[in-house]
Amino acid sequence: MTLSGKTVLLGVSGGIAAYKSANVARLLMKQGAAVHVIMTPNATEFISPMTFEELTGHKCPVDTFNRNFEYSVEHVALAKQADVFLVAPATANVIGKIRAGVADDMLTTTIMACSCPKILAPAMNSNMYLNPIVQDNLKALADYGYVIVEPAVGMLANGDTGVGRMPDESVLVEAVIRTIGYEKDLAGKTVLITAGPTREAIDPVRFISNHSTGKMGYALARAALHRGAKVILVSGPVSLTPPDGAETVSVVSAQEMFEAVSARADEADIVIMSAAVADYRPETAADEKIKKTDGPAVLTLARTQDILKTVGASKKPGQFLCGFAMESTDLLENARKKLKEKGADMIVANSIRTPGSGFGTDTNQVILLTESGEQELPLLSKEEVAHRIFDEIVKR
Ligand code: CTP
Repeated sequence: MTLSGKTVLLGVSGGIAAYKSANVARLLMKQGAAVHVIMTPNATEFISPMTFEELTGHKCPVDTFNRNFEYSVEHVALAKQADVFLVAPATANVIGKIRAGVADDMLTTTIMACSCPKILAPAMNSNMYLNPIVQDNLKALADYGYVIVEPAVGMLANGDTGVGRMPDESVLVEAVIRTIGYEKDLAGKTVLITAGPTREAIDPVRFISNHSTGKMGYALARAALHRGAKVILVSGPVSLTPPDGAETVSVVSAQEMFEAVSARADEADIVIMSAAVADYRPETAADEKIKKTDGPAVLTLARTQDILKTVGASKKPGQFLCGFAMESTDLLENARKKLKEKGADMIVANSIRTPGSGFGTDTNQVILLTESGEQELPLLSKEEVAHRIFDEIVKR
C-alpha cells in the first residue's frame, strides 16, 4: 500500500462531480492513507458530509466558525497533519479564491495554512473552464507549485460534450501517489534515460527498426520522477504520452540518439540506456542503399554508433551507468560480457523468451547484474521493475 502512514486532506467544493469524491476517498484509503475531508458549504448541496464521515471515520468540517468543535485550531491542526491536500472537484469559484488568497471557509482557510503539496482537480462546464480568467488562475497556481490535474473531455452533467469533467477517480489517486507516494531519494539527481526504438532510413519510405514500444524506458522515467529526480528522456518514435515533468527529447535515428545523449550526458548523475537501438543502418548514401538486382533486393549494412559503450568510455566520476541486455539465448553470459565491455555499472538482463517479458508487454522478468553479483527478480510490472532498478542504484 503506497500511501500507508500518509494523511490526505480531500477538499470537496460545490460541483456535480462531488458525488465522485466519495469514491476518491475510498480509493485513497485502500492505498493505506488516512483521509480527512473538508467541504465547502456549497458542496453539501451535492453530497452529505455524513457520507464522508462514515467512509473515513473522521469528522468532516464544513464551516470554520462551527461552534460545535474547536474551530480556532481545527484548520491549523489539519493543515499540520496533511501530507497532501487534494481539492476534487475544484470549482471555478474555489480556484479563484485560492488564487486570490481569499480564505473565508474551512477549505480555503486550511489550504492557505498548508505547507504540504497541493493538487487541484478542476471540474466544471467547458465554457467556464476555458474562460481566460479561470485559465489564468490555474496557470498562476501552477506557478506557485500547485499540481493541476487536467480535466477530462467527455459528456458533462448538462449533456454537453467538452472539456471539464473530473477525471476518473483512479487518475486522481495516481496524482496523489505521484506527489507523495515515494521517498524522494533521487531528489537533486539528474537521470538521463533512453527509451523506445530507433529507425534507420533505407529510403524516404522504408526503415530498419525493432519492436520496442518504449514502455520500460517510460516506466523508468516515471519512477525517477516519483522519486524526485530531474529526468531527461531521450525517446525514439513511440506512441506513449511523455511523462509529466520529464524533459523529453525526441529522436529518430541512432545517430540522433547518440548526439542527444552526448550533448546531455555530462549533466546526468545516472544514465540508463533502455532504448533498443537499431544496430544497423544501410551502408551508403540514401539513393544507393538498395542494390536492386533481378532477384531480391540486397541491402548492405553498417553498424550504428554504440551509445552505451561511448558513454561508458567517457563516464565522469561518480556517474552511474546502466544498460539493458535483451537476449534470446545465453542471457547471463551475454549480459556479463556487456557489463564489462560497455563499461556499465549495471546491466539489466531481459530474456525476450520469458512469457510476459520483453517488447510490448506491461510486465518484465529481469536479472540485475553488477560487479558484486546477480539478482534475479520475479515477473513484475515494468513500473515495479523500474523501482527495483532505482532501489539498487540508490544503495550505491
Ligand atoms: N545500445 C546502445 N547503442 C547501440 C546498441 C545498443 O547504446 N547501438 C545499448 C542499449 O540501449 C542497451 C545495451 O546497449 O542498453 C545493449 O543493447 P543490445 O541491443 O542488447 O546489445 P548490442 O550492443 O546491440 O549487442 P548485441 O547486438 O551483440 O546483442
